[in-house]
Amino acid sequence: MINFKTRIPILLLVILFTVSCNPKQQKTVDTGKVIDTAYILKLGDTITNSVQKLLLANVMTAMSDGGPVNAVSFCNIHAISLTDSLAGNYNCMIQRVSDKYRNPANKLTGKDAEILANLSSSKSVKPVIVNENGRLVYYKPIKIAMPACMKCHGQAGKEIDAKTMEIISQKYPDDLATGYKEGDLRGLWKITFLEE
Ligand code: HEC
Repeated sequence: MINFKTRIPILLLVILFTVSCNPKQQKTVDTGKVIDTAYILKLGDTITNSVQKLLLANVMTAMSDGGPVNAVSFCNIHAISLTDSLAGNYNCMIQRVSDKYRNPANKLTGKDAEILANLSSSKSVKPVIVNENGRLVYYKPIKIAMPACMKCHGQAGKEIDAKTMEIISQKYPDDLATGYKEGDLRGLWKITFLEE
């Protein structure tokens, strides 16, 4: 349920979106596609929960097959294609972005930094929807929510063993994604809904 407090910002967003639409988007609105933010939030949750499950299942399999070293190589090849794999079903772009990125393809762009800073200072875990250049974008915080994350995002030499660190440095020479503690905000899910 959406409580009263969140209804107002959502309403404002709807208004903002409608006002800032260029004629093409206005047409989509005119043709009856009224933006239902509750629906978009639900859709964003469904997408991110499915992709997260898929990623986690794959990483865990790669871990049990050959430890974190194998799982890092696996993620290096497959993480982005796995996150992308559901995008076609929902006509959206699916990304994980972070200020302390491992893969430079996951750098913050557009409004990402602003949203991350807001969510970080408010410690909110609630998703938000914003309008970016006429597109609806759903953001949801990603936290270091499991001890398993620490094997590859914790402290080098402590939670991350030497062999794993070696492969991380080899695959990601500009890696920034270590030194996290459990509960830290790791980044954001970013779902950009595309128009027809
Ligand atoms: C086996 C090592 C490993 C484990 C365990 C792991 N990650 Fe990662 N993580 C990686 C690698 C490698 C990448 C870069 C993937 C790529 O190339 O797209 C990455 C990327 C990410 C990104 C995308 C942003 C970026 O930095 O590029 C997020 C967010 C993330 N991990 C969160 C988590 C969370 C949360 C957990 C625990 C549920 C976790 N990871 C567990 C290795 C790991």
